[in-house]
Amino acid sequence: MNTKETTRYTFNEASSRCKSFPFFRQEGVLFMEKKTVLVILAHPDGKNSFNAAIARTAVVALEESGYSPVLRDLYAEGFDPVMPPEEATRPVAEAPEAMKLEMEQVKNCAGMVFVHPNWWGGPPAILRGWIDRVVRNGFAYGFTEKGAWQGLSDKIIQVFSTSNTPRDYEVQVYGDPLENFWKTIVFSVVGSKSFERRNFEQIILSDEEMRKNWLKEVDAAIRRRF
Ligand SMILES: Cc1cc2nc3c(=O)[nH]c(=O)nc-3n(C[C@H](O)[C@H](O)[C@H](O)COP(=O)(O)O)c2cc1C
Repeated sequence: MNTKETTRYTFNEASSRCKSFPFFRQEGVLFMEKKTVLVILAHPDGKNSFNAAIARTAVVALEESGYSPVLRDLYAEGFDPVMPPEEATRPVAEAPEAMKLEMEQVKNCAGMVFVHPNWWGGPPAILRGWIDRVVRNGFAYGFTEKGAWQGLSDKIIQVFSTSNTPRDYEVQVYGDPLENFWKTIVFSVVGSKSFERRNFEQIILSDEEMRKNWLKEVDAAIRRRF
């Protein structure tokens, strides 16, 4: 089986081309041919942006490390980030089929690599909406009388973000909002086997040489962590 080809599909493409997807079902049971890692890209230009280059570098490094990366280009897929009221007010067991598939993919992966620019101190709305609709109470975390539980504590999490604000200013004046969002809020609630984030700044001042070195860092981080 040619894994290089199989792993290039987006989730939607992959779902309709089950043979090429690293998951397959047999008698109702879900199997994986290799451990999958979701590479979730949230940038309007999924081809020519530096974010796209980060995602591609991560995909190649994962393949060469023996994983089956599934590249999720949320803009190209047209992911709808708005959680409709009927979804928000019903339990996760009644989520739409498309969201159940998303959750199944998350449940079965070894880890996730998020790639996105800093937009007003957060990920772009399309990725925030993916978190809202997929990383849900009752699936990724929950509460019982005995206390809270974490549903993603077996996942390796890597976040790559890009921004223009100087690092010192981002930390001292804004309080490092992306670190707060990903590490202190999302993954401290849902758990992770290990978490790392690397922000590349200042994108606007970077030259070809700097970007090449950043991509080398991406490659090394993925090979070290997965
Ligand atoms: C809507 C919007 C909001 C942004 N907000 C911020 C911000 O709060 N802080 C920052 O440093 N850069 C901000 N930027 C700049 C982006 O982070 C920057 O363009 C991006 O990281 C470049 O990545 P790329 O080269 O892959 O396109 C913003 C850009 C846009 C379009």
